[in-house]
Amino acid sequence: MKKVIVNEKTSSVALDILKQAGEVVYMPSGDLTEFTRLIKDVTAVLLDTTIEFTPELMDVAPLLKVISRTGTGVDNVDVEAATKRGIMVLHTPDANTVTAAEHTVALIGAITKHLVFLDAETRKGNFKTARRLYLPIDLDGKTLGIVGYGRIGKQVAKKCMGAFNMKVIIYDPCIEDSVVAPGVVRYSTEEPVYKQSDILTLHVPLTDETRNHVNEKVLSLMKPSAYLINAARGSIVDEKYLAWMLKENKLAGAAFDVMTNEPPRLDDDLLLAPHFVISPHSAALTTECTVRVACEAAQGIVDYLEGRHPRSIFNREGLNM
Ligand SMILES: NC(=O)c1ccc[n+]([C@@H]2O[C@H](COP(=O)([O-])OP(=O)(O)OC[C@H]3O[C@@H](n4cnc5c(N)ncnc54)[C@H](O)[C@@H]3O)[C@@H](O)[C@H]2O)c1
Repeated sequence: MKKVIVNEKTSSVALDILKQAGEVVYMPSGDLTEFTRLIKDVTAVLLDTTIEFTPELMDVAPLLKVISRTGTGVDNVDVEAATKRGIMVLHTPDANTVTAAEHTVALIGAITKHLVFLDAETRKGNFKTARRLYLPIDLDGKTLGIVGYGRIGKQVAKKCMGAFNMKVIIYDPCIEDSVVAPGVVRYSTEEPVYKQSDILTLHVPLTDETRNHVNEKVLSLMKPSAYLINAARGSIVDEKYLAWMLKENKLAGAAFDVMTNEPPRLDDDLLLAPHFVISPHSAALTTECTVRVACEAAQGIVDYLEGRHPRSIFNREGLNM
């Protein structure tokens, strides 16, 4: 019987799906040393974002045929190395879209309404002073800039236009005009989006092109009253420069779900910066979404093991499928 390893705490429904097709090694600790020891004879891996799947790790697992990511981004898998070794990389691009978009909206609310700060001040006994010390902003009529108008970017646009009457402007060089929703204004360059946004949210994948792209060059275009949201990937943003901007009041605030180093060091510049809200890469970790994503990722493995084509093969082209 083929062996499948699961490196994350996952739903029992997903484990039951996997058990239909193989022997399941359940390793919810996510510990790299244990993982390296256990993958020697596995055929498939159900993988979250905590382990970097390097070529060296692939070489420890000569029988490995499938890496199935429970999520959209596959940047913690060396896809080129996997393709060279004939390993199929699967992901679940649609299963977490709405959930990640909802979390993005929650981050927008948390930072622009100063919720974390106000909660802390109220608990310190500063009820009377905190409420007028540092005022939040209305979202109604504000301009939301979206960089990366894919699945999640589109959902964030829809929710913010519908719920908050925001104006939405976008930059995404890779899409057709036909996918841009009515009322959304598309720019062919990124500068106007950085300049005009009251809130700017990033929804691009982490690639060689986007890594560290949100740096001084574009961040310095933003209004000092603006907010930056990142629920995409940490390494897209120059975090040191952003921390400096927050300290120097060059930007009103930032709310992130992701950071370059996860978990970040407690003395990380950004964690120590004012007006910064962070969640622990948990945008897609709702009760419903964790089950949905794990089941879809598990089904992809079962499809492969039973000789069917899995639905979302990330390296389909590389594998000539
Ligand atoms: N925080 C989380 O838990 C979480 C959950 C889901 C997804 N994500 C991240 O969000 C990213 C986006 O997810 P998605 O499902 O919307 O992906 P998607 O592929 O549907 O959309 C990404 C969009 O970015 C655009 N893009 C690519 N390069 C660009 C660039 N240089 N400038 C502007 N636009 C560019 C693409 O054309 C595409 O439309 C994922 O790659 C993943 O890294 C994070």
